[in-house]
Amino acid sequence: MTASASAAPRPSDRPAEAGVPTLAADATLRFVRDGYAFGIRGYRDVGADAFRTRLMGRSVVVARGAEAAHVFGAGGFRRSGAIPRSTMHLLQDEGSVQALEGERHRERRALMTEFAEGGRGTLVSLFRSEWEAEVEKSRGVRVKLLDLASVALARAALRWVGLALPADEEKEIAADLRSMIDHAASVGPVNWAARTRRRRMEDWAGGLIDDARAHGENVTIVGRLAHHEEDGRRLDTAVAAVELLNLLRPVVAVARFVAFAAHALHHHPDWKARIGEGAESSTRWMADEVRRFYPFFPVIGGVATDPFRLHGVDFPAGQWMLLDLYGTDHSPHLWRQPDAFDPFRFADASPKAIVAQGAGEGLGAHRCPGELATSDLVAAALSLLVSGRPYEVPIQDLRISLRRIPAQPESGMAVIFA
Ligand code: HEM
Repeated sequence: MTASASAAPRPSDRPAEAGVPTLAADATLRFVRDGYAFGIRGYRDVGADAFRTRLMGRSVVVARGAEAAHVFGAGGFRRSGAIPRSTMHLLQDEGSVQALEGERHRERRALMTEFAEGGRGTLVSLFRSEWEAEVEKSRGVRVKLLDLASVALARAALRWVGLALPADEEKEIAADLRSMIDHAASVGPVNWAARTRRRRMEDWAGGLIDDARAHGENVTIVGRLAHHEEDGRRLDTAVAAVELLNLLRPVVAVARFVAFAAHALHHHPDWKARIGEGAESSTRWMADEVRRFYPFFPVIGGVATDPFRLHGVDFPAGQWMLLDLYGTDHSPHLWRQPDAFDPFRFADASPKAIVAQGAGEGLGAHRCPGELATSDLVAAALSLLVSGRPYEVPIQDLRISLRRIPAQPESGMAVIFA
């Protein structure tokens, strides 16, 4: 990986691949084997940017690229029934914004966007102070940035939604939020254990919603969720609790991008120097390149509510589709030298082309409302890493396996702060 200057990304001159060939009768084992590279290897094998296959016995279309992102992001794909229940229960849940469609989705999404986008300045400044406090505590000892950032982000998120908890409770909540992310793609006992923790968290969050209602507290994010009305009725306690977790959990998930940001700084010291010079654009470009380049969500799934057309082929309502996020962010038709880490590409490319956090525009889409907050948090982490307390990176395994979902630097990106 080198940080070479390159011209702006532009769609390649190659015409869009026509057709949606069949990859294999059932590709479940390939998915398990290839992880994030599942789509990329499939497109190579069929010679197109989309293919049909079966996963766990179910017919699916897997696709990357601008057309696929446009088709998928335009709406018309429901999320319920589109990802395994084991994952659904750790990340989202029935009745939550992601499981809704149509008018009810738009209304709930407007509220979540107001919190995630409108409130991101406060979140970032809370994160900065929690980070600095954690760094001071860790001086002189080897610490994994993935752990340190998770704790700092969890504390910041709890204060952001309006909670002041005893240190012990905060620690437990931080660990539970982290566990939902770490085990989202797991199956069997590990997943069940994480789901048990999740249910415990839902009970805890439900208690907070009840308390806010009992005390008429409607100022903080917890209070506003507790008093939010749809069709003239307050949300069910369980649904408001899930939405509270849908704000807390992904903030903690940003810790992976923070660890990746440190990984990128380590491998590209020239960018450390650029950010150190204080140019805001360098920090922003690098934050966006971290979100594009490093693996996070491999795919997002949807079940078509209407017939749709992709690469000249018509598909019926009911068709299951996976939009390949990693494959799109690494598509040679969209990004020049997609496998090179090169923040300069954002000098004249829009970060909106990144699909790491979903596709689509506006209130009707399911695209992540926390995208700007994520970008701001990663930018803040980059400036804290470059201009904050100096650190060294001890010898460790810095490889990132594309088979491990969610991915991370093998040794958690360990550092020692001076
Ligand atoms: C690590 C950073 C993050 C990643 C990788 C991420 C990823 C995603 C993706 C891929 C989706 C779209 C799912 C789909 O279309 O089916 C999504 C939706 C969502 N994200 Fe994020 N997200 C992140 C950070 C955040 C943050 C910081 C927040 C809030 C503070 C947030 C809140 C949400 C919500 C509420 C949805 C559901 C939106 C809807 O269905 O309309 N995310 N996220």
